[in-house]
Amino acid sequence: MTSQTPPKRVAVVTGGSRGIGAAICRRLARDGLTTHLVYRDADEAAERVVKEITAAGGHAFSHKADVSDETQVRHLVDRVLNQDEAVHILVNNAGVIDDRLLALTKLPQWDHVLRTNLSGPFLMCRAVLPVMLEQSWGRIINISSNSVRRPGPGQTAYAASKGGLEALTRGLASEVGHKGIRVNTVAPGAIRTDMTTPLATRLGLSTAGMGWGLPEDIAGLVGFLATDDADYIQGQTITADGGRLVMRPRSSTTSL
Ligand SMILES: NC(=O)c1ccc[n+]([C@@H]2O[C@H](COP(=O)([O-])OP(=O)(O)OC[C@H]3O[C@@H](n4cnc5c(N)ncnc54)[C@H](OP(=O)(O)O)[C@@H]3O)[C@@H](O)[C@H]2O)c1
Repeated sequence: MTSQTPPKRVAVVTGGSRGIGAAICRRLARDGLTTHLVYRDADEAAERVVKEITAAGGHAFSHKADVSDETQVRHLVDRVLNQDEAVHILVNNAGVIDDRLLALTKLPQWDHVLRTNLSGPFLMCRAVLPVMLEQSWGRIINISSNSVRRPGPGQTAYAASKGGLEALTRGLASEVGHKGIRVNTVAPGAIRTDMTTPLATRLGLSTAGMGWGLPEDIAGLVGFLATDDADYIQGQTITADGGRLVMRPRSSTTSL
């Protein structure tokens, strides 16, 4: 009897050029997945991640696309399907923060955050769902934030976008669960990346201090949710914050 090697699973990770997304790409590639990394501007950073994965024996490809642009998302998913004929895992990780008080927020600034953090995942989900439905298997993992539950001053647009993303997770999970597709959210606490370092510096916080996590702390959880072992987890938001939400008094904590 001959045993057939199952086809490699294919992952698409948005915002894979830096920070948490880059760590997720490295993790999924290390777990044997063909990994397609999506980024918006940082050509060199994206290429570095691809080279690193390839040098370690993995398979990775980079794609420049703005997740908030419907046409670019469609072309991106077409390119992945032309190459690998499948998308098994989608990680909606690309995100932006625009830290300012609501009273001082102009509509284009609000729109930019909402379009990237909420409309982007909507467009990406909609683009990959037909192939996941055909496969009767899929994993969608959305990256939200602890700031949904504890937004600091200046984070209203960001927290609203991530709260919307968590609601999108639950709604979509209820629509496609019976088709073998799992949709879950990971909500990180404060993670040391390009997104948080400037803000932490401005607030006089040290990112080397207690309560700060590393991108790899999030990548491990995403790696698990991408496997068959996570089959019974559906429509959930799983917090990975080193205990910040439960341990600190509200007044001394800023979530990101
Ligand atoms: N760091 C934290 O403490 C923290 C906490 C909670 C949640 N999160 C969430 O985790 C995710 C990753 O955060 P991070 O700290 O790793 O961020 P980061 O270091 O600032 O990286 C952001 C990534 O998103 C990409 N991106 C931004 N807008 C995009 C767009 N319109 N289209 C395509 N790609 C786009 C960037 O691409 P370029 O490199 O090309 O610019 C980059 O790869 C975000 O959703 C963030 O909200 C972060």
